[in-house]
Amino acid sequence: MFHWLEKNPFFFAVGVFVVIAFAGLIEILPNFAEASRPVAGLKPYTVLELTGKNIYKKDHCIACHSQLIRPFKAETDRYGQYSLSGEYAYDRPFLWGSKRTGPDLHRVGNYRTTEWHENHMWDPKSVVPQSIMPAYKHYFTNIADIETAYAEAVTVKNVFKTPYGDEFQPTKEAWEAHKPIVLAEAKAIADDMKNKDVKEAVANGQIPEIVALIAYLNRLK
Ligand code: HEC
Repeated sequence: MFHWLEKNPFFFAVGVFVVIAFAGLIEILPNFAEASRPVAGLKPYTVLELTGKNIYKKDHCIACHSQLIRPFKAETDRYGQYSLSGEYAYDRPFLWGSKRTGPDLHRVGNYRTTEWHENHMWDPKSVVPQSIMPAYKHYFTNIADIETAYAEAVTVKNVFKTPYGDEFQPTKEAWEAHKPIVLAEAKAIADDMKNKDVKEAVANGQIPEIVALIAYLNRLK
């Protein structure tokens, strides 16, 4: 039946390609679905954490820090459990990075505290004398853009079905209703900090960038 095909090298090559490509897709596609499946218990980022993540992106912390622990003993001894693909299910984009001038940060929330980050971001050398990381003092006065992060949460909920609650709606009212939740989360962090300007700003309903960034770093576990 297929003699004509076997005698025609061109169509035969095309046929082989089609068969192999199809088989390849059947093997590869389910893995993509698996990779985007969240690990058990994974929650989407809160609006405050998303704000912090945006600061991390904006200032390119990724240039010096990775967020991907490889399955090697030296890494798991230092940072903990190696990273699983499902842990990045709500990362858009993921921030794996490829350069480690500083340490990996994927589980930094397990061994650093709000207080430690406050001192470190203000003046890295005050906690790690030989540090070459730059200071980020302006984070203590710059006010973070939480509204954009809220819009981002609403967008990924609608576009990618990220499981945010029904209260996440693209309206001014929904945002106003959600804002006190973000402020309460910020206040809990500011309470653990010593910087007076930060505490005052949060008490006045404004969130300095440092608070959002620490919320994000504490979440990395
Ligand atoms: C020029 C490279 C560089 C940049 C940019 C940089 N870091 Fe670092 N970072 C380092 C180095 C080097 C260390 C290790 C020394 C230290 O702890 O200060 C470090 C350490 C850290 C630690 C402590 C990790 C641990 O396990 O002790 C945190 C947290 C951190 N950086 C966060 C950030 C954040 C957030 C940003 C972006 C706002 C940033 N870094 C930008 C180089 C950098």
